[in-house]
Amino acid sequence: MPIFFLCALQISQKQLRLFSMKKALILFSLLAMLGCTLSVKTVNRKKDAEEAEKTTALSTYANNYFWEQLHGGHYENLDSVLFYLSAAYNENPNHLETVAHLGFSHIWALSERRKLDTIPPTITDHGTLALKYFGEAYKLNPKDPRILGFLADLKMAVGSISDDKSLVTDGYFNGKKSIHQWKEFNYFTVGYSLSQLSHESWQFDKALEWQWKTLDECYCEKFDREHPDITKYLPMEAEEDDLKRKRACWNSWIAPHNVEGFYMNMGDMLVKDGDWQKAVEVYGLAKQIPEYESWDFKELLQKRIDSAQVNVQKFREPVLAGQNYADEDIMMIHSSVSCMACHQMSDADKANYADFDWERYKKEYKVYGH
Ligand code: HEC
Repeated sequence: MPIFFLCALQISQKQLRLFSMKKALILFSLLAMLGCTLSVKTVNRKKDAEEAEKTTALSTYANNYFWEQLHGGHYENLDSVLFYLSAAYNENPNHLETVAHLGFSHIWALSERRKLDTIPPTITDHGTLALKYFGEAYKLNPKDPRILGFLADLKMAVGSISDDKSLVTDGYFNGKKSIHQWKEFNYFTVGYSLSQLSHESWQFDKALEWQWKTLDECYCEKFDREHPDITKYLPMEAEEDDLKRKRACWNSWIAPHNVEGFYMNMGDMLVKDGDWQKAVEVYGLAKQIPEYESWDFKELLQKRIDSAQVNVQKFREPVLAGQNYADEDIMMIHSSVSCMACHQMSDADKANYADFDWERYKKEYKVYGH
């Protein structure tokens, strides 16, 4: 997923400020013609935000079904997830939750394709569709930086699949914007996507730096990179009253093992970078999380700890998009649990959340921005 034109674009932005208004306008039009506008572009021009909250029996059913299958890790049911969500979309193409969940379902289909016995070449269509739906969700709710972060990832992914370098560049800058809007969430989201790139690329270095920065943001001080330890931060969860930090930095019904998944990926990135000793320490942080015991991927994490040194070479090797590998041999982002490491509920988790009220939670935690 190469990213070109970045320096050129940055210089042009700086120059824009220096030029007179007239020259700036000419330069701006030129950039626009080249597809390098500075605003966030999506495939759809307009959406009707007034209709965004109109729920029906069908939309409620479709979205509940989506959550059940996502938390259950039922990748095999994605066809029916898409069937119901699409029916709800046809009924009201402006229903925000439906549009967003269509985006999430398609990226799930693409991202965990290694759950399939054979990966069909048409799998890339899920990227195109995820891009479309995240684009629409962004139009409906430009105030949700999570959507912008995913939209950025999709632009970079679809741009590199279709060899459209300006789309990749556009995605990268949307990613930077999304980080600016919600650091605790999007340093991870955008950096995760870039973790696929060569360990020698500047994008990979930046993406790894962003994982460390997530910790600075989440724990409200410079994280000690020499001696990674989160013991003193764990009590912060109960006291956290900043909603953005609470949602992005700890586990929740939406992502019941967010923190364990975060450390699994960060460990993978450190391995790929060559610092496997530090990776072992960072993988180990997942074990400090109270919900760790009920996490379905404890064994996969242990395998990574045991093989950290030999994985340096393995994680650096190119991974073929259409080929299958065992999860322990590849980075989390490439694996069949690239979403489930954070989102899957074990039976114990389901029991813990038996009385959870999503409708109430999403209002209280302003999940859809209200
Ligand atoms: C490192 C953990 C992690 C990984 C990996 C991850 N997510 Fe998430 N996801 C989160 C967190 C944290 C949130 C935000 C929770 C919130 O908004 O309160 C989130 C939000 C979501 C939502 C919520 C949408 C809504 O209605 O509010 C969906 C759906 C979702 N992710 C799906 C996915 C899919 C699909 C993948 C794989 C491509 C993925 N996630 C990868 C942690 C993760």
